[in-house]
Amino acid sequence: MRKPVVLISGAAGEIGHALIDHLVEAGGRSIVTLDLRPLEPALTTKVSRAFTGSILDQALLESIEAEFAIDRIFHLAALLSTRSEFTPVAAHEVNVRGTLNLLELAASQARSRNQNVVFFYPSSIAAYGVSSDAVMPETGWDECSHNQPITMYGCNKLYCEHLGRYYAGHYRQLDAEPVGGKVDFRSIRFPGLISAHTVPSGGTSDYAPEMIHAAAQGEPYECFVRPDTRIPFMAMPDAVGAILGLMEAPRDSLTRSVYNVGAFAPSAGDFRSLVEDAFPSAAIGEAIDTKRQRIVDSWPDDVDCSAARRDWGLAPEYDLVRAFDEYLVPTIAALYQS
Ligand code: SER
Repeated sequence: MRKPVVLISGAAGEIGHALIDHLVEAGGRSIVTLDLRPLEPALTTKVSRAFTGSILDQALLESIEAEFAIDRIFHLAALLSTRSEFTPVAAHEVNVRGTLNLLELAASQARSRNQNVVFFYPSSIAAYGVSSDAVMPETGWDECSHNQPITMYGCNKLYCEHLGRYYAGHYRQLDAEPVGGKVDFRSIRFPGLISAHTVPSGGTSDYAPEMIHAAAQGEPYECFVRPDTRIPFMAMPDAVGAILGLMEAPRDSLTRSVYNVGAFAPSAGDFRSLVEDAFPSAAIGEAIDTKRQRIVDSWPDDVDCSAARRDWGLAPEYDLVRAFDEYLVPTIAALYQS
C-alpha cells in the first residue's frame, strides 16, 4: 500500500504559502503541490513533489492520481474577485471547472481506496450579496443569509459550496451499489485575509494588506475604498489555524459543510490610522474606485461565526490591535529591511 499524501492546489498563493509551513511544522503526511506558478525554492524543499501546471489539465491530474494515494486535499487554486470580473469566463473555468476536477479526483481516490478523502475548500465572504438597506443582525450574517453575490467569483464560490455538499452527501445517488469511500467536504467562508509575508493579487479586500505593505516599504498608497468601508478580516496565522481546526474536527461534530470565520471588522479608516501610527511616514491617500467600492459594499460588515466556534472551536488569536502589534508590524518591517 502506498502511503497517502496531502495534495495542495494553488500552493504558491497566499494561503498555500502559509499552510505548507504549518503542515511541515506539524509533521505527518508528505505534501504534493500543484500550481500554475513554480513553487518558491524555499517551499519546494519542504514538499515531496511540486507540480507546475493547471487544475484544468486532466492528463496532469490523472498522472498525479496514478502516482500518489491522496487522502486529504486543500483546493486553494482560484481567481479572486477583482481579477474574475475582467475575465468572467476564465474565472468560471478555473473556479468551477477546476473545483469540479478536484472533487472528481477526490471521489475517485475515495472510491478506489474505500476510504473518505477530506477535502478543504476556501469559500469567501464574496458568496454574500447584501443590499445596502439590509439591517445587519448584531452578530453578523449567518451562512445561509443573503446569498445573492454580485461578482462572478462570489457566484463561483457559492455554487462550489453546493457542489461540495453534493459530492459529500448525494454523489451518484442512483447507483445500484452505494460507494464506499466519500468526499468529506469542509469549507470556510474567509473574510479579507492579511499576511505579513505576502501581498494578495486580484482581490477586492486587497486595500488593507496593500496599505500596510506599501507603508512599510516607504511607498505611497491610494486607497480605493471610502474610509467608512467595513468588512471582516483575519490575520493569516489565524486563517491557517482555522483550516487546520476544521480539518482535524471529528466528522460527527460538524453540523454544516460551510462555516463563516472572522476576527475583527475595522473600517478602512480605522485600518489607515493604525498603519499611520505604526509607520509615521506613511503617505496614504484616497482614490476611490466606485466599481470596486460597490463590490465591497455588497459584502457584510461582519459575519456570525457562532457555528464555527461551537462545532470545531474557532478561536482566533489576533484581534486587530494584537494583529498589528505582534504580527503585522514587526514581521512586515523586518521583511522589507532585509
Ligand atoms: N479576498 C477575496 C477577494 O477580495 C475575498 O475572498 O477577492
